[in-house]
Amino acid sequence: MIKKIPTKKIRLGMYIQELCGSWMDHPFWKKSFLLDRQEDLNTLQNCGIQEVYIDTDKGLDILEQSEIVSLQDEQEKIEHALKNIPINKGKAIPKVSMHDELDRARKLQSQSKAAVHSMFQEARMGNAIKISDAEPLVDEINLSISRNPEAFLNIARLKNVDDYTYLHSVAVCALMIALGKQLALDDKQIKDVGIAGLLHDVGKMMIPADVLNKPGKLTDEEFEIIKTHPRKGWEILKLSEGANQVALDVCLHHHEKVNGKGYPESISGDALSLYARMGAVCDVYDALTSNRCYKNGWEPAETIRKMAEWKDGHFDETVFHAFVKTIGIYPSGTLVKLKNGKLAVVVQQSDKSLLAPLVKAFFSTKSNEPFAPEMIDLSKSQEAIASIEDPSKWGFDLKSISGF
Ligand code: C2E
Ligand code: SIN
Ligand code: FE
Repeated sequence: MIKKIPTKKIRLGMYIQELCGSWMDHPFWKKSFLLDRQEDLNTLQNCGIQEVYIDTDKGLDILEQSEIVSLQDEQEKIEHALKNIPINKGKAIPKVSMHDELDRARKLQSQSKAAVHSMFQEARMGNAIKISDAEPLVDEINLSISRNPEAFLNIARLKNVDDYTYLHSVAVCALMIALGKQLALDDKQIKDVGIAGLLHDVGKMMIPADVLNKPGKLTDEEFEIIKTHPRKGWEILKLSEGANQVALDVCLHHHEKVNGKGYPESISGDALSLYARMGAVCDVYDALTSNRCYKNGWEPAETIRKMAEWKDGHFDETVFHAFVKTIGIYPSGTLVKLKNGKLAVVVQQSDKSLLAPLVKAFFSTKSNEPFAPEMIDLSKSQEAIASIEDPSKWGFDLKSISGF
């Protein structure tokens, strides 16, 4: 059984399933491990993490049962918080189907990657970059998102490990645009936040490759080097032609947190602009959903839940809620289990509720057998989603079922 317990109750012999809170707060890289060294116990108790999940099937249990916050309660709280985010009245229905937009989105992603690559190489060589070169692409991404927001965002998640920084830039550009639309920014602002997303990590070009691409946890010294990338990027943009204020701001402040515990300036409150707050959410979401040289990415629906769980003031709550409306609670492509035990893949968002998308059901967990796929519009049906399922556990080819 998985249990959430306060850090002070941890003892040797427990199996640590997961640490709660910011990964940068703790020196443990492995996600789950048997706690069998006193040294590790001391580190855990002194690293500022308040709570952890333990697995009592794999290690010792807690002594006082009254201290336990069950995973179920925790999940319910998150579900509840997410359910209270209402959908926008009159949410725009995509003009073009996911299927029809995907090919264009794929081409656009690869063009954008090439453009970011060449701009970032200039930066690496210490040259000023010409930001106007990127503008037509940002306009194209904006148009693709207007036709169907999910198509480009779906493609933008797919990254090969080597090109992470460039593809991450393209993805954050798209997320910033989609979030900007959700927040009803005007056209000029949307263009500015798109460019800002594209350039926010340009400072990573000044970080030694062996640190940036290290296939494991960074040492404190290495992370200090990483922490210089917002300011280095800002310096590059300052020297570049046509950098807007928004891009400079997002570049310098995308690692700031609302609670003032971010870097490089540890600012908070009014000093942290809306654009920087948007940048923080989009950056982390894309990092978490991407495969990296040191870890595999999480599913979008899972990621939204994890981010909703972080209550330590990393993100601006209003911006985060707008972001959830942008991405959806069950983004298309998510594998879900319905209350009747059928497995289904989400194929389209609904304009009625974030919780009731159109799904394609295809497998019965009761008989453990597939059946002829069946479309269900959950906004018009008695059926409802019971849980998100991990597709890797089931081994289905979801692509062939959803068509994307
Ligand atoms: P951050 O924690 O400030 O990390 C900034 C950048 O440092 C990361 O950008 C990544 O390039 C590098 N970095 C951080 N930790 C490691 C590491 O252990 N190994 C290596 N090789 N590189 C590392 P990235 O990946 O684009 O992530 C952006 C932000 O997303 C992070 O900022 C953090 O806030 C969040 N994030 C990413 N992955 C995780 C994760 O697994 N757990 C949590 N809680 N947050 C994450
Ligand atoms: C993170 O781990 O970087 C995000 C969690 C948080 O600090 O809210
Ligand atoms: Fe960054």
